[in-house]
Amino acid sequence: MTALTLSTSSAATARADAVVVGVAKGPKGPVVAAGAEAVDKAFGGKLAGVLETLGAAGGEGEVTKLPAPDGLKANVVVAVGLGTAPEDGFDPETLRRAAGAAARALSGTKKALIALPVEDAEDTGAVAEGVLLGAYSFDEYREKPANGTAKEPLAEAVLVGGKPRDKAHKDAAARATVVAQEVNRARDLINIPSNDLTPEAFAQRAADLGKEHGFKVEILDEKALLKGGYGGIMGVGQGSANPPRLVKVTYAPRGAKKHVALVGKGITYDSGGISLKPAGHNETMKCDMSGAAAVLSTVASAAQLGLKTKVTGWLALAENMPSGSATRPGDVLRMYSGKTVEVLNTDAEGRLVMADALTRACEEKPDAVMDVATLTGAMVLALGHRTFGIMANDDDFRAAIHEAAADAGEQSWPMPMPAELKEGMKSPVADISNMGERMGGGLVAGLFLQEFVADGVTWAHLDIAGPAFNTSGPFGYTPKGGTGSAVRTLVTVLERAAEGEIL
Ligand code: BES
Ligand code: MN
Ligand code: ZN
Repeated sequence: MTALTLSTSSAATARADAVVVGVAKGPKGPVVAAGAEAVDKAFGGKLAGVLETLGAAGGEGEVTKLPAPDGLKANVVVAVGLGTAPEDGFDPETLRRAAGAAARALSGTKKALIALPVEDAEDTGAVAEGVLLGAYSFDEYREKPANGTAKEPLAEAVLVGGKPRDKAHKDAAARATVVAQEVNRARDLINIPSNDLTPEAFAQRAADLGKEHGFKVEILDEKALLKGGYGGIMGVGQGSANPPRLVKVTYAPRGAKKHVALVGKGITYDSGGISLKPAGHNETMKCDMSGAAAVLSTVASAAQLGLKTKVTGWLALAENMPSGSATRPGDVLRMYSGKTVEVLNTDAEGRLVMADALTRACEEKPDAVMDVATLTGAMVLALGHRTFGIMANDDDFRAAIHEAAADAGEQSWPMPMPAELKEGMKSPVADISNMGERMGGGLVAGLFLQEFVADGVTWAHLDIAGPAFNTSGPFGYTPKGGTGSAVRTLVTVLERAAEGEIL
């Protein structure tokens, strides 16, 4: 990952290859943002005019590269658009996105000074996160790095303009470094193809990570799952040559006031099973373990940040494949909870593995359970590719997650749990079926999961099917492919639980 430091040195005189400045959209053209004074001076005060002549307007996501004049140590100035300046300063997410866009434009560069406008420690954290997330590229499977340009990601970023001696700024940069590293780890896990990231391989990575950061990792293999009665996870995984796993990841710091359980959908590949997905719908289904990746990265973040919240992560790992041993449409599974499920569509597999893990997670009586899953295409239809849906059995908890997500820079929206949709899941042979009405399919899936949450446990469900995997071009700090969706939200929720602000 890009190395990041804070410095008091000047954007004009510090040694670097490039210097990044902000440019806002003014009523009469681009306006140079705070932090860029020394750079503007080197342009004789004409930076805004130069940018305007070059066609820049200061819109969000706009990146303009220009040669540095005499008086700057750097060779290149990168002006990144911030949009219209609000009266009370740019919000952290605007800075995060701008920093990310600049970092992407800097691939192939060794060292860059970042002179974006920062007013407080939160801004410093946002810029740091934006740079570290924007510079991400996944090159494990290439001979040469090829983030669009066949260039190495930015090696070193120096944030100038923050307050490196101020504890709040230092802490913000340190937190951003941990969180970005973990978001990038989730992205890697998602981008690794399914032939390499089997349930077993995923579990092994969790075990290695636990050793590295000092949290406990317990793995239930297919024998233990069969013996334990995990009919949902086994039913989904039994068609694959790569058997399923349930991984329990525990971070239990001294002095923790709250205990939060996190359950992640870890379908390492979703072919649909016997209800096979048609071509065109399966090419990106390696991403169907994004929830489990988010949970693992969140626990690793909590451990590295030393958060005073106990966290139990559950990774429900299985590969959904068609074969002679696969579950058939019409089969009935006996779930871990004891309930029976008629599997009418083997492509509605996520709710089956999640149900078992949810029931198991509730046994430990946590203060809250949050599950994260690329659960339904219907949620993508409802909310698009950048927003995840939140459902919950507690209005305050749902609102608190929505707020945490917004503060963390993730788009989300609260979704209802209309009780009448349960009707459609009635089965003539079993307690419930894994299919319901097509309309409101995302809500149906959430209602199914709720059936496996123990009474009295506060629960929320995050359907990240939209934002988990970006099939369009990169934007802001978001790359193509795995995005690491939900990690920043979950970390923020755990922080707030530790502070006693929620739960
Ligand atoms: N993994 C998919 C959902 C998904 C769709 C994730 C698009 C990411 C992008 C899930 O297992 C699935 O196949 N859901 C079905 C459910 C249906 C059969 C009730 C769906 O949404 O079509
Ligand atoms: Mn599916
Ligand atoms: Zn799936």
